[in-house]
Parts: sequence; C-alpha cells; structure tokens
Amino acid sequence: KILILDFGSQVTQLIARRVRDAGVFSEVYPYDVSDEFIRNYGAAGVILSGGQNSVTEGDTPRVPQAVFALGVPVFGICYGMQAMAEQLGGKVEMGKVREFGYAEVRARGHTALLSDISDFVTSDGHGMLKVWMSHGDKVDQMPPGFKLMASTTNCPIAGMADEERRFYGVQFHPEVTHTDQGEAILKRFVVDICGCTPDWNMPDYIAEAVASIRKQVGSDEVILGLSGGVDSSVAAALIHRAIGDQLTCVFVDHGLLRLDEGNMVMEMFAENLGVKVIRVDATDQFMGHLAGVTDPEAKRKIIGREFVEVFQVESGKLKNAKWLAQGTIYPDVIESAGKGKKGATIKSHHNVGGLPETLNLKLLEPLRELFKDEVRKLGVALGLPHAMVYRHPFPGPGLGVRILGEVKKEFADLLRRADAIFIDELRNTKDESGESWYDKTSQAFAVFLPVKSVGVMGDGRTYEYVVALRAVQTQDFMTAHWAHLPYELLGRVSNRIINEVRGINRVVYDISGKPPATIEWE
Ligand code: XMP
Repeated sequence: KILILDFGSQVTQLIARRVRDAGVFSEVYPYDVSDEFIRNYGAAGVILSGGQNSVTEGDTPRVPQAVFALGVPVFGICYGMQAMAEQLGGKVEMGKVREFGYAEVRARGHTALLSDISDFVTSDGHGMLKVWMSHGDKVDQMPPGFKLMASTTNCPIAGMADEERRFYGVQFHPEVTHTDQGEAILKRFVVDICGCTPDWNMPDYIAEAVASIRKQVGSDEVILGLSGGVDSSVAAALIHRAIGDQLTCVFVDHGLLRLDEGNMVMEMFAENLGVKVIRVDATDQFMGHLAGVTDPEAKRKIIGREFVEVFQVESGKLKNAKWLAQGTIYPDVIESAGKGKKGATIKSHHNVGGLPETLNLKLLEPLRELFKDEVRKLGVALGLPHAMVYRHPFPGPGLGVRILGEVKKEFADLLRRADAIFIDELRNTKDESGESWYDKTSQAFAVFLPVKSVGVMGDGRTYEYVVALRAVQTQDFMTAHWAHLPYELLGRVSNRIINEVRGINRVVYDISGKPPATIEWE
C-alpha cells in the first residue's frame, strides 16, 4: 500500500484517486503523523502532496524524517518536492513570478519515473509532457545525489531524481487531469517503482470499508437520513452491509419529492435490501409552514429548518443511536472547506448533510474520500440498481424550488406528473449511438409556473398553468449549457403533458445557460 502525506493541497485526494485508478490501495494522512506511525505503517512507497505554504519560511510543514529513512521510494509533488529538496540539502527559492496553468515540460536524462512517457517528442528527440503547474516557489539547487529529471523555461528544475535512493520530485501536478500523462506517471511510480501489484478493486474497497465501519462503530447504533439521492443511498447500502440492523435510516417525505419516489425508496431499501427504514410523511407540516411564503430564500430556509426538526424528533426516538451517518463525498468536503472565504450566497443549499451538532452524535462518513463516479461504481457493486445509481441529482428542497412562488400541494401534484412524463420520454429516446437523452443530459426536470394562460382544447377555452422544461449538460454544475434536445422529443413531451395532466395547457423550454441563469429556477 501507498502512504500519501497531505501538505494541505486542495487536490491531495486526487492523488489517492489516481492511485486507486491504477489498482493500488492508498491512504491519505496529515503530514505531521509521528515517525513511529510511519515506521509501522508498512508503506511500499510514500507520496508527498502539494500545499500552499512556502518552505522558505520557518514554521511551515516538513516531511517527517522517518520517511527518508524507510528505504522505500518517495515521490514529492510541488510543495512535496520543495520540502524534500530543502530537507535533503538542496535550496528552494522564493518565487518572483507565480506559474499557474498549462506548461510544457521537457524530460531530461533517463529516469525510471518518466522514461518513455511523453505527449510528443521534439525534433531533437526530447520527450515533452503537457502538464498543469501551480506554484510560486521553485527548487533552485538540487540536493546531493539528485539529477535533473525535467525542466521548463520558467522552472529549470521542474523534476529531480535520486535513482539510487528512489526519491523523485516534480514541480507540476500529475494528479490533475490537465496533466495528460499524470495517470501514467503515478502508475509508473506505484506499480513499477514501488512494486505494488495493481489488483486492488471495488470488492476489495468494500471489504476494507466494511471492516473499518465495524471497527469504528463497534456495537453502537447508527442513524442515517436517507433522501433517495445517490450519496445517502450508497452510504446506507454500505453501512448496512457492514452492520446490518445496527443501522436505522430515517426517510423524510416532505411532500416535495418526485412521482412515486417514496415508494421506490421503501421498496429498494426496506423490501429488497432489508434495511430498517422509518418513513415519515411530513407533507402537512411542510406545506403548513410554506403556506403564503413566496420568497425563494425564505422557502429554502423553511424547508431546511423543518427537515432538521422532523429528523430530530425521529432520531430522538432512537435512544441507543450514537452515530449519525452521512453520505458526504469528497467534493462536499472541499466545498465546505472553502466556505466563508469568498462570494455572495446565491442560494442557501440545503441537503441531508446539513444536520446540526445538537444531535450530539458522532459522525460516520464512509464516502468522504470518494468522488462521485467512484460512489456510483460502489453503489453498483453493492447491488443498487443502475438506474438509481446513475440518477440525475435532485436538490434537498426538492420541488419546493421548482414551484415558483408559493408552494401548494395541488401545484406539487401537477408538477410531479409533468416531470415524470418528461423523464420518461428522456429515458426512452435514444440517439444514433443508442444512448438515452436521460444519460446524455446531466440534469433535467420540469418547473411549475404559477401563471395561467389561455388555450383551446376541443371546442372549449382553457385557462390553465404553464410548465417549463429544463435540461442541462455540465461537468461540475458550476457552469452549464442548455441541452439541445431533439424537437421531436420536446414535441412528444409537450403533447403528453398537456393531454395527460389536466391543469396544464402550455409547455415551454428553458434555453438559458449558467451563468447567467442558474440550473434551478429558485
Ligand atoms: P443551481 O440552481 O445553483 O444548482 O445552478 C446547481 C446544482 O445544485 C443543485 N441544488 C441543490 N442541491 N440542495 C442540494 O442538495 C440545495 O438546496 C440545492 N439547490 C440547488 C441543483 O439541483 C443543481 O444540480
């Protein structure tokens, strides 16, 4: 296994992720673990992450000396390389210019780490790598025993190697996807240089996660807020696999769920998997508090508050629960670490993750280190249905932010049916390659507009509500394009909604990008 020491970079988990992708088990620990921990860990190799500090200043993180005495390969990335250089007798210079973004690195000499890995070869025969850089300081003088491994115009020592001791350092970031050969370089390190067998896979992951959950909670009871979303569902399935009936899930139906969602969640978890699930129908409570409220932020706050309220009452009944399990995944961890630093509140997000400390429960977050696509693979491996695991995201406040203005049960009922028709058609309409439009879009849903317009049906005049369709394509939900759905598909959806949902006589399609629009309408 590989030990990754974290020096505070935002992308440290990406290193772990690439190592996992290479089929090797790794764990991330803070840089200041004890020498004893390092000696007993049994690492086949150590990777030192990047970080925001400057080694030229005192009191900044250093690599535990034991790492260099282990006799195993060590790979320093960015700050990790600088710390290594400084501690082994080289020199690091405070940067005058920051280098940020794309760079081309020239591989120098022949090193076990980079040989035969390149994006292109120059006319004079040098392998070149397209990489992503982000640093201020740079190594000015290599420590004794090191030779030059890579360089750029701005950064003459962009990589260094002591092949005798198998110590390597690079200034660029092999863990980010912008470094095209990054995965190949990390794989080279962990498999070829450290000698790890690339046979670690999802079943192994499950076995390890199960063992670690059992160890963590012992014979305690655990509660989990199940929302029906991917993350809480996968967390529930994993924890149930580990501790069975010691887990109780609380599923709060706020009356703002999608069509038939409550029944589907119960069927999948309670019936198929045998998980203990308490279903709370709190529709009246939510609707009561939302009556007369039109301001989007006020609505969000009410839904968030009531959710906590209901959850607290239910969990209070479980006297023996000591743990609160959450489906926090790694992007949530980064997002909340960055909170409060900058930016206005565009929307106050609410999800099941936002439960209060007053519950007095210890936190169990078994998905904390995983990225979304890994969570999905884990879900499939745990036996959750593919369609569930690859479902579009659904916001915590549910239809509450898709019914503009005041929320009424009557509106929610209309919207649910219109939305189900839209999703049904997206799932059933495939492109030339056989991929459905549901899978080709990142998120798609209907929005209820509380305005009436005039229509004609048969011989009669109608005066009914409008539904807007929204479908977007995006990688990260921070920016998004509206999806260019085929006209025939849109036509079918519109026909079906108007014919099948009495109360809706007009359907429009939202063609706004994000920014300036957001994905949800409120
Ligand atoms: P916006 O509307 O901000 O949405 O472009 C970006 C993504 O976030 C989802 N979203 C939420 N998710 N709680 C959530 O868990 C919320 O309060 C919330 N509000 C928006 C939205 O569905 C989209 O995927």
